[in-house]
Amino acid sequence: MKPHLEKVNLAEALSHFSTHWEPKIVGELNGQQVRLAKLKGSFMWHAHEEEDELFLVLKGSLDLEFRDHTVTVNEGEFIIVPRGVEHFPVAKEEVHVLLFEPASTVNTGSIRNERTIEQLEKIIDDRSGG
Ligand code: NI
Repeated sequence: MKPHLEKVNLAEALSHFSTHWEPKIVGELNGQQVRLAKLKGSFMWHAHEEEDELFLVLKGSLDLEFRDHTVTVNEGEFIIVPRGVEHFPVAKEEVHVLLFEPASTVNTGSIRNERTIEQLEKIIDDRSGG
């Protein structure tokens, strides 16, 4: 059977949800996931012991606080947070990000609390492609 290839439109996928700090899966490859998230306000200090995490900012400015400095990641920029590094994301205004990370990555890292999303929702962009 011929593979059914589809493209993903980021704006369209982002229009499917409005919740903050709840990443949605929009693609999977090589054991990694492409995720989209809307962020607003402060998240929490956490680290991912086994996974490096890429944040690509699609809209707004994301402050990534580290223990000794803060990096402001603007629209069109990305940052890779290496495994084991504690980080505290802060979105003063709403930020849209694309995350690229192993499927095993839990949003709150090694901490489990009310902000932990165990099962991420998958978004299918069924209006794209042809
Ligand atoms: Ni993280």
